[in-house]
Amino acid sequence: MANFDDYFKTNHSRFESELCEWLRMASVSTDPQYKPQVEQAARWLATKFEGLSFKTELIETCGHPIVYAESPQVPGLPTVLVYGHYDVQPPDPLDEWITPPFEPTIREGKIFARGATDDKGQMITHLYGTEAWVKATGKLPINLKFLIEGEEECGRKGLGEFLAGKYDQPNRKALELIDADIVVISDSSQYAPGMPAVTYGLRGIAYFELRLSGPKQDLHSGAFGGAVSNPANALTQMLSALIDLHGKIQLDGFYDDIVELSETEREQFADLKFDDEAFMKGLGVTGLTGEEGYTTLERRWARPTFDINGLWGGYQGEGAKTVLPAKAGAKFSLRLVPNQDPKKVYESLQRKLNAICPPGITMDLIDLHGAPGSMVPIDSPYMTAAAKAIEKGFGKAPVFIRSGGSIPVVNSFAEKLGIGTLLLGWGQDDDNPHSPNEKFLLKDFHAGIRTSAQLWEEISKIELA
Ligand code: BES
Ligand code: ZN
Repeated sequence: MANFDDYFKTNHSRFESELCEWLRMASVSTDPQYKPQVEQAARWLATKFEGLSFKTELIETCGHPIVYAESPQVPGLPTVLVYGHYDVQPPDPLDEWITPPFEPTIREGKIFARGATDDKGQMITHLYGTEAWVKATGKLPINLKFLIEGEEECGRKGLGEFLAGKYDQPNRKALELIDADIVVISDSSQYAPGMPAVTYGLRGIAYFELRLSGPKQDLHSGAFGGAVSNPANALTQMLSALIDLHGKIQLDGFYDDIVELSETEREQFADLKFDDEAFMKGLGVTGLTGEEGYTTLERRWARPTFDINGLWGGYQGEGAKTVLPAKAGAKFSLRLVPNQDPKKVYESLQRKLNAICPPGITMDLIDLHGAPGSMVPIDSPYMTAAAKAIEKGFGKAPVFIRSGGSIPVVNSFAEKLGIGTLLLGWGQDDDNPHSPNEKFLLKDFHAGIRTSAQLWEEISKIELA
């Protein structure tokens, strides 16, 4: 067994200073004004892989480039595909950051920056775990391929086209290029500080925009209110008809395909002894709600939900204006559990909203994106390898959890390559991804690096079928 303790000790502070350099690049994918920084991040990463003598390519797409790199492939060794993303969410609201989002700052053992946990900080742990093998032993015990995209946070169009073969060349077909025995993704969370986890289930999503139009222009609410349908009123009525007061989603057939949680799984969740009080305190809320009959963990990990993500209509300025707005709209999404089909949800939603749309209002329902949830088998040799590696890297055996977030590409790998994914998140639930003061515990960063190096070793011991 290779021992990397010395290598990790010697390179401890370099890993941190390079992490700062990496997070300083504002690789915000959704906003064109950041394009140069997105490209700079892609090139920085490619240079790192070249430094390991990996065959490296920046694959140009309709959007931001994909960074692809592979170790020299040795026949007969297991092949791991590491997926991650180098793009980040927009940093606003800027005035809520204690230190600026692209000036990485270390406070109390945590690094604060946009992308610290999601996913730049987590993703490069695999670069350094791999580097340890290459630099300290001159070899790798497995074949490695890295597929790091730059559009995870803005729709994955480029990656979608890449996986569909759009950028194939006669001697380079996407699915052959990235074919592997297992995928590894570190883009989620541990159960809690000091409680590392392997995630075996993710929720899916169905995301929509609803636009309502009424009269041809804004009206005086005294002169017309009560006789003319108000799009903002209609919007609240229509949205509230989608979920009842017991947290049940009111769409025909919505629950039909759901595989109910087994008693065993409910017991496993309960064994994690989730602390509702501490959860509420951490979030600054005084109560919790959700689907009746389910615990907080069940609601967050394994039950579908409905959330309004944005809402507009009517007067938003100072003071009062008695207006009946001509238009109103909302963005909302449903988190789905495995086996629910986002297409069916869209069809059912369209029927329901059409049926309850009041007279005088025209509606436009836009299906923005959707992806089913995913479950990965717990009893695979790869899971066992991951659990052993985590125990060595974090000094603690992992717990097995599900997660409420979505990583749609997991389904693409299963469908297109027929392979499973190890979801090994090093983050914490309170790392603030997508929100101000995003952070990553440096302890978790280094443990992630150690685990990555261990994981390659553990996977090398698996007998290939
Ligand atoms: N890293 C997250 C996914 C995640 C979050 C997994 C929390 C597990 C726990 C990822 O970058 C993300 O934000 N995904 C989006 C996907 C969506 C836009 C299709 C999400 O979950 O909202
Ligand atoms: Zn994200």
